Amino acid sequence: LTALPGPVPDEVQAHRGASAIAPENTIAAFRAAAEAGAKWVELDVALSADGRLVVIHDDSVDRTSSGKGSLGALTQAEIGALDAGAWFGDRFAGERIPTLVETIAALGEFGLSANVEIKQHAHHKSLDQLVRAVQADIAGRAAGTRIMISSFDAEALKAMHALEPELEMAMLWGMVPEDWEQRLAAIPATTIHMHYKTLSIGLLERTRERGIKVRAWTCNDPVQLVSFWDAGLTGVITDNPAIFLA
Ligand code: G3P
Ligand code: MG
Repeated sequence: LTALPGPVPDEVQAHRGASAIAPENTIAAFRAAAEAGAKWVELDVALSADGRLVVIHDDSVDRTSSGKGSLGALTQAEIGALDAGAWFGDRFAGERIPTLVETIAALGEFGLSANVEIKQHAHHKSLDQLVRAVQADIAGRAAGTRIMISSFDAEALKAMHALEPELEMAMLWGMVPEDWEQRLAAIPATTIHMHYKTLSIGLLERTRERGIKVRAWTCNDPVQLVSFWDAGLTGVITDNPAIFLA
């Protein structure tokens, strides 16, 4: 048996933690990612009503917790008091929606690095407040915790780059637009994170020539990516890191 082409271990990012086996964006999911051998987790951040960064994908707590309500109407204390594990499985009851600060501390313990996806929600009033909160919260990371930033919002990446020019910036696209090169240069960003179903060999050849990294999300089947690694695909963002690390 010969192994299928695949990513190097450092290029497997656990999407919202190992969200196939533990409740997304919880400390349990990040711990599970580390136990699966992942070096990176992807996580989503947004502001609470009182301006604290919490790690959650949606703009409300409804889907992933025992509570109800929009992030813009709940304080961090209210959000942090909810159960964010029982919806996924009884053994995860008691998991919380963590703050970014708590998460960064846990990642240090687990030896993990973080792709921090900045979500832009309607209740966010100030981009400056949002990116300064990210800057402040990642400042406490352990020496071994590398940080990169991703967003569907180019303005968020631009503002973040201005504050932290050394960090890798990844533009998120479902489908990469024709003028991707100009759009990346305007941020500037060095990386594209794109939906795996829109990958093409032609695009990977052009990005590789220009030194642009490309990671594919959210892919849970290694067979789907086999033909893209040789063409220059950099990495994968997956709910199930174990299957890409096997
Ligand atoms: O980072 C890739 C992926 O997380 C983007 O989509 O909706 O899962 O945050 P979403
Ligand atoms: Mg995300």
